[in-house]
Amino acid sequence: MEQLRVEVESGSYNIYLGAEVWALVESFGQNYTEIIVVTDATVDSLYGERLPFPKYRLPIGEAQKTPANALKLVGELADRGLDRQSLLVALGGGVVGDLVGFAASIYLRGIAYVHIPTTLLAQVDSSVGGKTGVNLPQGKNLVGTFYQPRGVFIDPEVLETLPPRELSNGLAEMLKYGIIHDPGLFQVVRDGLEDFYRCDPQLLTPIIKRCCEIKAHIVAQDELEQGTRKLLNYGHTFGHALEMLTGYEVYSHGEAVLLGMLLETRLAKALGLLDRTSFTEIVEGLGKAKELANLNVPLPSFSQEQLISALLHDKKNRQGRISFILPREIGKLEEVLLTPEELQALLERVLEP
Ligand SMILES: NC(=O)c1ccc[n+]([C@@H]2O[C@H](COP(=O)([O-])OP(=O)(O)OC[C@H]3O[C@@H](n4cnc5c(N)ncnc54)[C@H](O)[C@@H]3O)[C@@H](O)[C@H]2O)c1
Ligand SMILES: [Zn+2]
Repeated sequence: MEQLRVEVESGSYNIYLGAEVWALVESFGQNYTEIIVVTDATVDSLYGERLPFPKYRLPIGEAQKTPANALKLVGELADRGLDRQSLLVALGGGVVGDLVGFAASIYLRGIAYVHIPTTLLAQVDSSVGGKTGVNLPQGKNLVGTFYQPRGVFIDPEVLETLPPRELSNGLAEMLKYGIIHDPGLFQVVRDGLEDFYRCDPQLLTPIIKRCCEIKAHIVAQDELEQGTRKLLNYGHTFGHALEMLTGYEVYSHGEAVLLGMLLETRLAKALGLLDRTSFTEIVEGLGKAKELANLNVPLPSFSQEQLISALLHDKKNRQGRISFILPREIGKLEEVLLTPEELQALLERVLEP
């Protein structure tokens, strides 16, 4: 079993990787009075019985990551009499993890939780770093907390049951880590894309580990996203806007981020930040991922005004200026703030088919 440490001020914890993590969660649970595994129906039917604890099922899907469902869970915890020595186990993808982490952070002003991420996206990204949250109609993750889990338990073998579309999702975030922090990783992921769809745990484990390492490193420097951590939002300004404009029903998160990275790379080029060689390398890598993810179709139709209005909800924005994380080269990105007018002048070049 592999192990990594996430060092953050509010409470450090380990990430464990390997098929042995189930037994580890079970023994970890012995430190707590009550344990509830919170999962969704799909994951429950596949993996629920691996944990001998009571279960609570959340409704499936991004549209269900709501304050109402978080409060329903919190009410259930109260009904079942969980106290401050209780533990929540989030078993599932990023939706389950974000919602359970949020519920754990507000119930009794905070109880312990751990995450067993079961999607590639959750294994490389959402389970690490302690961002919890739920969506509002006004935008994604607008309600949430920074609240670290007590541990993250990753079994790459569960990816074997993951539908290809969910795999594409995680691959997009893996490419993101490469572009923001590690040119070598970018090459490995880009060159291995087809192979990764086979979900071979042996192949995926070292890459998952490397992504967790990068995320842990960035989060350790900036737990509350005052600076460096914003780099992780490359692709997410346009990505979140695309998700919002399409009612969270057309794109999954990773698909939106993949398209977002492409648009933001074009924006970097239009602003003269990015040289031609880096531009071509990034766009070719992302283009390959886009093709494998079956995303080579036109964007849904929306007006520039609708897009800008969606972008103005981004949490990174400051004083009406829209925040973008843009590449100068692979491994070197920076935040650029644009007024809606400045962006509008470039949008045609960014949105070209
Ligand atoms: N907190 C963070 O730092 C962070 C980072 C990135 C993304 N996110 C959030 O993560 C969410 C997306 O997470 P996601 O992509 O994991 O989606 P998800 O949690 O909705 O899971 C996707 C689907 O896969 C199914 N599934 C899960 N594991 C499976 C398995 N092993 N086999 C078969 N099916 C399985 C689920 O039932 C679900 O239908 C978004 O809400 C996004 O905002 C959070
Ligand atoms: Zn993301």
